[in-house]
Amino acid sequence: MTAPFPKTMDYQGFNAPNRIEAQIYDLVVAEGEVPAEINGAWFRCIPDPQYPPMLGEDTYLSGDGMVSKVWFENGHVDYQQRYVMTERLKAERKARRGLHGKYRNPYTDDPIVQNLDAETLGVTRTAANTTPIWHGGRLLALKEDGRAHELDPETLETKGVFDFGGKLRTATMTAHTRYDPETGELHFYGYQADGIASKTVSYCVADKDGNLIREEWFEGPYSSLMHDFVVTRDHVIFPFFPLTADLDRLKGGGHMFAFDPEAPTWFGVMRRDQSVKEMRWFKYDDPACSFHFMNAFSDGDKVFVDFGRSTAPPFPFMLETSNLDITPGSARSAYVRWELDLSANSDAVKETVIGPPGDFPRVADKDFMREYEIAWYQRFDIEQGPPNIVGPVGPGFNTISRLNVKTGDLRSFGFGPHRTIQEHVHIPSKQDGHEGYLAFVVDLHETMGSEIWVMEAAHPENGPLARIEIPMRLRCQVHGNWVDADQF
Ligand SMILES: [Fe+2]
Repeated sequence: MTAPFPKTMDYQGFNAPNRIEAQIYDLVVAEGEVPAEINGAWFRCIPDPQYPPMLGEDTYLSGDGMVSKVWFENGHVDYQQRYVMTERLKAERKARRGLHGKYRNPYTDDPIVQNLDAETLGVTRTAANTTPIWHGGRLLALKEDGRAHELDPETLETKGVFDFGGKLRTATMTAHTRYDPETGELHFYGYQADGIASKTVSYCVADKDGNLIREEWFEGPYSSLMHDFVVTRDHVIFPFFPLTADLDRLKGGGHMFAFDPEAPTWFGVMRRDQSVKEMRWFKYDDPACSFHFMNAFSDGDKVFVDFGRSTAPPFPFMLETSNLDITPGSARSAYVRWELDLSANSDAVKETVIGPPGDFPRVADKDFMREYEIAWYQRFDIEQGPPNIVGPVGPGFNTISRLNVKTGDLRSFGFGPHRTIQEHVHIPSKQDGHEGYLAFVVDLHETMGSEIWVMEAAHPENGPLARIEIPMRLRCQVHGNWVDADQF
């Protein structure tokens, strides 16, 4: 037997751990039809703790990585999910209890697993629970505190830690890599690249076949939680929001990150054909925080970066550490475009608002890194009903929107008072002029069940093309990605 999970937001209701490895053939399509042209795999990463937290409480974000695969084939849909067998999970299963302390704080771990060596920390402590990516013929599960884990795309069996054939030096690899649709390259970075709470950031590029062809390191202005970055055809942009790590706080048993609204935000911008030594820095003095970038593009010396800017981080445990009395959702937020002019003498950014607040922005893969029109993201709309608690932040999103960033046109679908949605994936169509499809998990709060919905990407306001039943509750994923069948 194991002890009960804590009676807190992160472990109760829709957030109750699921812990089921499953394989389900031919899910029931309850309504509509799944378009037959959708063929391929939608991989998702879900934090799903095997054991209750050792210290009695921990964030949702620390859950062991569960990877799921939703396989689409000529109108049929199969479902599969399996744990990533990390060193962390193997050690806990052997001890038959939780061994890890606070989120990202190895100083609070049980001595059985306490390993403070920067070289191995990223391998032994990561839960590999954030993003599955497909690159160079490999399926990798990523979390920003460590190295990637390679999985078998058929069985989801863990093959082991992936370090680009021993070439990778950075101890950490982001869960938000950037794929270049023109070259097939994968651009990524790691913050705290050489040890916990360090200011060192790595910038890496792998070629289309998955060979590491570039790794450079630089120092940031502070040790920031750099969850995402963004790349254009000509530039790389590294964001430093003042959500920072402190080694003394960690050694004292505290949380890794605290937000300082008084500190400036810095964006480092470099040309892709130059080195990190040529970084140009831009500064923003008002409180700013963001976790996900929608897209970015360059026009000569001007770089345009689109993202959801908030005045505080959304995670309750981070606000608590920061001594900020802000309820989730009450921070002032908007979707914005920042213009960074490399030819100007000023380090200031020019901001324009492009849409209402939300998160989980996504553009079609073909539009990455270039000027674009269409993006899809999720919002919380109070007119749909009061918040339903799901995932690490608390209130779940209840509206999906298609935003035309050029015209401001916003097409939305609201899910009403008893449904929330998990992050959507975009599935391209092979038909000329067709915008493709969106697929996402819908949380059914009345029955504590789950469905997958498929929508026309061009017209989310029309509702689902297909509603697919899942005979179990799916815990809230972090991120997912689509891999077309012809890529296997
Ligand atoms: Fe993310």
